[in-house]
Amino acid sequence: MRKIFILALTLILAFVSCSYSQEIKIGACIYRFNDAFMLRFRNAMQAESEKSGAKISIADGQDDQNTQDAQIDEFIANGVNVLIVNPVDRMSSQPIIDKAKQANIPVVFINREPAPEMLNSYEKAYYVGANAEESGTQAGQLIADYFKAHPEADKNHDGKIQFIMLRGQNGHQDMILRSKYSVEAIKAAGYEPVEIAGAIANWDKLEAMNIMNAFLMSIGPENIEAVIANNDEMALGAVEALKNNDYNKGDANAYIPVVGVDANASALEAMDKGEMLGTVLNDADNQGISAVRLALALAEGKDLNSIGYTITDNKYIWIPYQKVTRGEK
Ligand code: BGC
Ligand code: CA
Repeated sequence: MRKIFILALTLILAFVSCSYSQEIKIGACIYRFNDAFMLRFRNAMQAESEKSGAKISIADGQDDQNTQDAQIDEFIANGVNVLIVNPVDRMSSQPIIDKAKQANIPVVFINREPAPEMLNSYEKAYYVGANAEESGTQAGQLIADYFKAHPEADKNHDGKIQFIMLRGQNGHQDMILRSKYSVEAIKAAGYEPVEIAGAIANWDKLEAMNIMNAFLMSIGPENIEAVIANNDEMALGAVEALKNNDYNKGDANAYIPVVGVDANASALEAMDKGEMLGTVLNDADNQGISAVRLALALAEGKDLNSIGYTITDNKYIWIPYQKVTRGEK
């Protein structure tokens, strides 16, 4: 009896220690926790790691590259098997790649795309994201479609669309390309876009609200025909400012179409209430899941074709965007 007990105990201990030694440790860095979209991304990574039996630690870079660099050093010192990094400054990714290479651990960048030459400097450096041009095009199409369906939206009847652009953080690929391609899509639909005012609101709702308040005061809502925001938080800030001016509260004569990107729950709610025209799904779930699966496959030396997502150019996973509207408004 005793012998069997000891044998069973030994087996259990062996099993436990063996599964422990196989547990992969992921060190993940987020540019800033206080970001609605990155919260969705984080939750998806956390859930996928739990599902896969991996241990993920996620650090808040607090929008400071030095803070994030120190967090990366600490992850490496603590022996993580792989890094997932959402860089504060995507153009400062080279030192991060160099550190990962030095430690011989893979690094998967997310949401903020390092330059190709940076990624190419290390065979175990990858990027998971969504094609920013696509989201810009789709946001512009939402505005153009609205003008097709509502000729009266051209308030001054000049055949042009006088719009306000609210931009994300400077240098972010999503800020650059969404701004550019939303305007291109409006042109492609046969309208002449005219940016009557624009500003950087750093992806932030409050900043966008203050900026929009100032624009409403100086320009007048009757002279604004559309608001294009690089993300939902800024779109919602604009909606808040409009509502304070008795716009976008259900009266068709006091309405300015506002579009964002992300499809965060709060934006979908605003769309349901008719306060916001539309958004573009930035698929945090699939980006988060694929980033974790890729990280684990790299850490375990597994076949990358087994993770259920296509890897392009041996470096990239691209998750598609998708237009979201709430029927005819
Ligand atoms: C999202 C923004 C977010 C930013 C963070 C973008 O892809 O659309 O909402 O603030 O990423 O880097
Ligand atoms: Ca016009």
